[in-house]
Amino acid sequence: MKKTIILAIESSCDDTSAAVISDGILLSNVTASQGVHEEFGGVVPELASRAHQLNIVPVVDAALKRAEVSTDQLSAIAFTRGPGLLGSLLVGTSFAKGLALSHNIPLVEVNHLQAHILAHFIKTNSEASNSSSGRPIGGTPSNSEASPSFPFLCLLVSGGNSQIVLVKSHREMEIIGQTIDDAAGEAFDKCAKIMGLPYPGGPWIDRLAKEGNAEAFQFAKPNIPGYNYSFSGLKTSFLYFLRDNLKENPNFIEENKADLCASLQKTIIDILINKLKRAAKDLKINEIAVAGGVSANSGLRDALLDLGRRHRWKVHIPPFSYTTDNAAMVCQAGYFKYLDGEFCPMDAAPYAKTKI
Ligand code: KG4
Repeated sequence: MKKTIILAIESSCDDTSAAVISDGILLSNVTASQGVHEEFGGVVPELASRAHQLNIVPVVDAALKRAEVSTDQLSAIAFTRGPGLLGSLLVGTSFAKGLALSHNIPLVEVNHLQAHILAHFIKTNSEASNSSSGRPIGGTPSNSEASPSFPFLCLLVSGGNSQIVLVKSHREMEIIGQTIDDAAGEAFDKCAKIMGLPYPGGPWIDRLAKEGNAEAFQFAKPNIPGYNYSFSGLKTSFLYFLRDNLKENPNFIEENKADLCASLQKTIIDILINKLKRAAKDLKINEIAVAGGVSANSGLRDALLDLGRRHRWKVHIPPFSYTTDNAAMVCQAGYFKYLDGEFCPMDAAPYAKTKI
């Protein structure tokens, strides 16, 4: 029987990525990151779209070669339609349309946020033969071997989003809480910038926090109703705290960097976890997942695993390679949609913002 082979393209922000799935098994996942933004302390949209244009052909080519698949064998092309930077999305969307049109195969649009969540269902060859579970390879520090069972709660934390999502099925997802201002990743990045750390600051804070005392400093925690989040007050309190201390000691940041990082990281994790705990208790759900770039944070991973042990949660943590933006997750989401026969028209335009 003819195999179902999907090529996926992800270009929503500053990573150009392509992946191939064959009959539900991930064969390749190639990502080119863009160093061009580092000197600006954040992603510059115009530079991102230009870099996508340079990267997309070699990245897609590498993904197909690594998968040992030719374009003639493809069943469909999946692409990230949104949310993200419009210029960046346009590159991936246009490329996907061109390839689908020239091979007369369907297009499948993917919501980037849903894709982050569906990363938990990625299967690779070794797993397909080793177990019936969908847990991706990569030494996942998870206390659960299988992919999440429905319904589950997913803490979706990235540079642009902080949400608690009630995942009822591959298709049906409901945001029950979200940030009303900055995202958790933004809080990491902005506070890192204030300390003079490079962009993106999250991984730097994570690394430095390992050598610091998380109880050294206290920062404001917001009091927001329901399951919603807010991180802009924390960023401001961090800024004022440093400004006041720098007046007394101009070397304050240098002398306390590890402690500052550890204390800040702990505050962000506490804020994230408190709402998640409340949601899990109220909804009586003990199947908990985390997704998005910030799920790479070692403190957050440890905190979730610890909570899992104490509250008997089944905690699902993706391997590092599927935390930040990648096409493997888009491919997985696209594969589910392909099986459901859900295709998108050739005139589908990308969108910058959306709900899940
Ligand atoms: O999901 P993602 O790759 O893309 C966007 O949202 O665009 O997330 C990127 C975010 C950045 O804010 C980055 O600082 C954060 O994920 N991040 C981390 C870590 N690795 C990436 N934050 C904290 N600790 C990390 N180890």
